[in-house]
Amino acid sequence: MTDRYQDFVSSPVGKLLAKNLGLPRPVRLDRYAAGSPLVNGTVLLGGTGRLVEHVPAVLSARDIETTTATEPASRYKGLVFDASGLTDPTRLGALRDFFSPLMRSLEACARLVVLGTPPENLKGGARVAQRALEGFTRSLGKEVGRGGTSQLVYVTEGAEGAIGSTLGFLLSPKSAYVSGQVVRIGGSVKEPAEAPDWQHPLAGKVALVTGSARGIGEQIARVLARDGATVVGVDVPQAADDLIRLTRELEGDYLTLDITTKDAPQRIAQHLSQAHSGVDVVVHNAGITRDKRLANMDEDRWSAVLGVNLIAPQRITDELLSQKLIHDNGRVIGVASIAGIAGNVGQTNYATSKAGVIGLVDSLKDGLKNGITVNAVAPGFIETKMTAAVPFATREVGRRMNAMSQGGQPVDVAETIAWFADPASTAVNGNVVRVCGQMMLGA
Ligand SMILES: NC(=O)c1ccc[n+]([C@@H]2O[C@H](COP(=O)([O-])OP(=O)(O)OC[C@H]3O[C@@H](n4cnc5c(N)ncnc54)[C@H](O)[C@@H]3O)[C@@H](O)[C@H]2O)c1
Repeated sequence: MTDRYQDFVSSPVGKLLAKNLGLPRPVRLDRYAAGSPLVNGTVLLGGTGRLVEHVPAVLSARDIETTTATEPASRYKGLVFDASGLTDPTRLGALRDFFSPLMRSLEACARLVVLGTPPENLKGGARVAQRALEGFTRSLGKEVGRGGTSQLVYVTEGAEGAIGSTLGFLLSPKSAYVSGQVVRIGGSVKEPAEAPDWQHPLAGKVALVTGSARGIGEQIARVLARDGATVVGVDVPQAADDLIRLTRELEGDYLTLDITTKDAPQRIAQHLSQAHSGVDVVVHNAGITRDKRLANMDEDRWSAVLGVNLIAPQRITDELLSQKLIHDNGRVIGVASIAGIAGNVGQTNYATSKAGVIGLVDSLKDGLKNGITVNAVAPGFIETKMTAAVPFATREVGRRMNAMSQGGQPVDVAETIAWFADPASTAVNGNVVRVCGQMMLGA
């Protein structure tokens, strides 16, 4: 849906008025267009540690230009700072020394990334210093402005070569509405299976997307198909027309069923086994809301929401894993929500289900084998039919209370899922990444 306020403040009169009245001035965010370069500009590298030397090679594999020398009057699209060498809090000033002089040399929609070591793997001063990076990057996300983003990426020792897909995503317009996030790379798998072609990393892969007839699910199907996957769309029989139209356009396949029915996991498993010999990417996107304050929450609303959003994804995942239908280096991806992190009035059922999706990630992340990973996105305010139905005042608050002063687009959630799905993201496991423009609540 259109954001009329954003259209107005983008006009010359609106711009002037918003500036004088101190109103939020959302900028048009860069978004990735198929066939374009991943990063339109130069990325400056800095810092000292065990990570920075790996960055030029993984970025050059994605045709991203890097430099280590600051030139007077140069402007940068991205900054990557290796902070893994900061082994004591007294050395944290290196962050200020690097970033401060560059803050006025950034292009619009700039991407700032700090690399570090997971604090939980360290002791003493090194642990303190690495934990401190979180406050720095989250504040930077709220300061950078003009559609810029800031992230912290913790990389386990030994996983230095596995940072390519994550840096490619975080430095590109694909991460338009992702900011202030902390991503962890590592675990047992250190070397990723890099796809030969970064533009089609999912070539030859099969992706199941539930709830793909419309909204965010439709965009997930489109983006995964763009990246080369054969998409198997799932939705309720009432949505069959839209689902069939979409999957035909994407040259994919479909299955109409209600994912909460008793035999849904077996039917999905049977279809994937017979028609596709298994699956590579499973996206649990189907979701519903049935809002009421708890005092008025009837049993039907409670169990409908828990059934679609949490119990069905868990049962389907269990079935596919137990039948060994998820291929090696496969991906299980959940769709949580910011409501599952911060809570929301009238959404005890929804927030319980979405926090449960995060629990599903936690419960599976250490037990998966053969390079299979599990991660989730937690969208904030995304412009869909679901949020168009929200009353005006609540909608405006949801839209503006984030560092970007605007709602996200379904494609922003889809691009984040495509990063998890990338075969090169083998070391990205157990993450819950918010796609919320760095919302002020629950961030
Ligand atoms: N829109 C937002 O701002 C937002 C924010 C946070 C999280 N989310 C989550 O993102 C996901 C997609 O949301 P959306 O806004 O695109 O919603 P939507 O209502 O537009 O689409 C949901 C799709 O899921 C399908 N579906 C619902 N119940 C199903 C069932 N039992 N079996 C099979 N399919 C079923 C619907 O038919 C529909 O096509 C949901 O999980 C939602 O909770 C959305």
